[in-house]
Amino acid sequence: MDWGIQNRLNRLIQKDGRALFLPIDHGYFQGPTRKLEKPGETIKPLIQYADAIMLTRGVLRNCVDPAIPKPIILRVSGGNSVVGEDLSNEGQITSINEILRLNASAVSMSIYVGSKHEHQTLLNFASLVDQCEDYGIPVMAVTAVGRELEKRTARYLALCARIAAELGAQVVKTYYCEENFEKVINGCPVPVVIAGGPKVDTALEVFEFVYDGIQKGAIGVNLGRNVWQHQYPVAMIRAIRGVIHENLNPKEAQQLFEQVKAGKA
Ligand code: R5P
Repeated sequence: MDWGIQNRLNRLIQKDGRALFLPIDHGYFQGPTRKLEKPGETIKPLIQYADAIMLTRGVLRNCVDPAIPKPIILRVSGGNSVVGEDLSNEGQITSINEILRLNASAVSMSIYVGSKHEHQTLLNFASLVDQCEDYGIPVMAVTAVGRELEKRTARYLALCARIAAELGAQVVKTYYCEENFEKVINGCPVPVVIAGGPKVDTALEVFEFVYDGIQKGAIGVNLGRNVWQHQYPVAMIRAIRGVIHENLNPKEAQQLFEQVKAGKA
């Protein structure tokens, strides 16, 4: 692998081979998402526990201090909205010059396998990889399902993850699935991180799926709403960090969560 890509990946993926990415890019198609109305405020108490943040150039420029000590994963696909006709109708929204100007450590782009705009998003993705390879920028594929969350089966996710890797992704972000998640990992030759999806009912559920995903070979998470939409976001991110970087099991993560929540850790 090219030295520049490897160097940037090393900023994102820690020495233990694991990673905790904190995405705050949701506004690019959802607008002012709950608890992300002021993204700069949302991340202030969380940033120290994340290995990288994922966001668009608009939020980066307007809401984030350039002295931020964490690497940036720049979301560079968009052009759609929750009220538009079809979420899969995305294009590249940020040029390679802008990616370099903003000193991104990596970029991310969604692909919509099986959707009306599958072909377009896959070609966009391959083109982005070509542009980024010229400058040593790693590309993370976001395997998107649009509104159809029920698509998240191992068979479908394995298909998406493998296609992303075949097109040149250095990292793949996919969803977790309870059954046969190892199939997604086994068929994907590059590191996989798990997204959280819409907020689930309990903190323990999050620790359980992150733990299980890691046991089955994911290197970490790119997890947003289940952290910053939670009533205790710092306790959430610290407990998830414990699962990823300190090998806590779900019960131990829950204990850490309770301690942080009570101000005892
Ligand atoms: C979608 O808006 C983005 O790609 C998110 O970065 C991704 O879905 C992860 O965030 P969450 O854990 O909230 O699903």
